[in-house]
Amino acid sequence: MRTLREIPALREALGDARRRGDRIALVPTMGNLHDGHLALVAAARERAEVVIATIFVNPLQFGAGEDLDAYPRTLEDDQARLEAAGCDLLFAPDTATVYPRGLEAQTRIVVPEVTEGLCGASRPGHFDGVSTVVGMLFNLVQPDLACFGEKDYQQLAVIRRMVADLHFPIEIVGVPIVRAEDGLALSSRNGYLDGAQRATAPELHRTLCALRDALEGGAEIAPSLEEGLGRLHQAGFTPDYLELRAADLGPVTATTREAVLLAAARLGPTRLIDNLTLTLPR
Ligand code: PAF
Repeated sequence: MRTLREIPALREALGDARRRGDRIALVPTMGNLHDGHLALVAAARERAEVVIATIFVNPLQFGAGEDLDAYPRTLEDDQARLEAAGCDLLFAPDTATVYPRGLEAQTRIVVPEVTEGLCGASRPGHFDGVSTVVGMLFNLVQPDLACFGEKDYQQLAVIRRMVADLHFPIEIVGVPIVRAEDGLALSSRNGYLDGAQRATAPELHRTLCALRDALEGGAEIAPSLEEGLGRLHQAGFTPDYLELRAADLGPVTATTREAVLLAAARLGPTRLIDNLTLTLPR
């Protein structure tokens, strides 16, 4: 696997692949790779001749007071994991390469509607940073397809909407959440949890599972969500939101069948997110 740091080298390497007529799959990441990321690489590997991963801790998607400086940077380990997973190319630029005029002067992509509420409410500007960097990577790599994890359900919806609205000729592949044995969704931020917090963390998934079962069994939505919030508080979380939305993130109506439960909650300073899809009864 070759690691490329600069845009001209990236363009040259991809030009060779394109001339051969190879299908190119992109796996954008911020590094500190775990099995969830490797599932993205595996999904890409199944679908394309050339797999390119990117590692860039994108400052544009972190708000003031968030964990940009603390975010784990583990490039050597990540390179070894990507290579073992069959990745062909890694693009790992520095901030000045991506944003040569600085963050303030950067042209941005702003996706409306689907960015409202949920993580968009508690992390203002976050999705503008995500769509801007992902749009830029799409432009640089011009992949045939790109793989994203379903753990970041709203992010995936934002990217799908951006691709549709800007007519990017790119297939977006959503890859199911990878969980630890106790149900905790894998995340680079799990590494911030101390022993006691790590033991509590799976309660987020367990709460979503209990709610799913109740709602699929016909329980009323509002009281069920109240109960779920109570359960999270009791376990030691500070919930940010716990919501039921239609699968496209629109509001749940009388005719909604395919729906998704979405939660974000803090354990100490660590913010965890998770989601679970479900089918509402008629
Ligand atoms: O999901 C992530 O790791 C990031 O938000 C992404 C998509 C790589 C953009 O920086």
